[in-house]
Amino acid sequence: MKKYFIMAATFVAVILLSNCHTAKKAAKTTTAPTVAAVTYHANIQSLVADNCSPCHFPDKGGNKKAFDSYDAAKANIDSMIARIERNPGDKGFMPFKRAKLSDSTINLFKQWRDSGALQ
Ligand code: HEC
Repeated sequence: MKKYFIMAATFVAVILLSNCHTAKKAAKTTTAPTVAAVTYHANIQSLVADNCSPCHFPDKGGNKKAFDSYDAAKANIDSMIARIERNPGDKGFMPFKRAKLSDSTINLFKQWRDSGALQ
């Protein structure tokens, strides 16, 4: 008789534990996926090189304000964003005489600034 009781108790315990496990799993899937942080070296450096060169790169012959390093980009990020948010034809629009950057590219610049301009 005692044997049955132990078996029944074990069975109940297993059911409870497995329910608990699935509940936890379900909760986990509802949490937002973690997004990789936007950093200068992973994201911003190549965006600036692709879109602001050669004019803002002295070593490529550019004679406009230099954005060719982490420090320079960090120091100028507010005015860079202000310029890329303008529209072609607006005074001061950047990149100069080119197409407007995509919203997702502009957002990367903003995310980088807002998350503390990580290196
Ligand atoms: C084809 C050349 C060219 C490209 C490419 C270009 N710029 Fe410029 N940039 C200029 C010129 C010319 C000026 C000066 C005229 C002005 O201020 O509008 C300037 C000025 C600026 C200034 C003001 C700098 C200061 O002295 O305070 C900012 C900020 C700026 N650009 C941002 C950018 C960003 C960000 C990009 C890339 C997304 C970019 N520019 C791409 C030519 C360029």
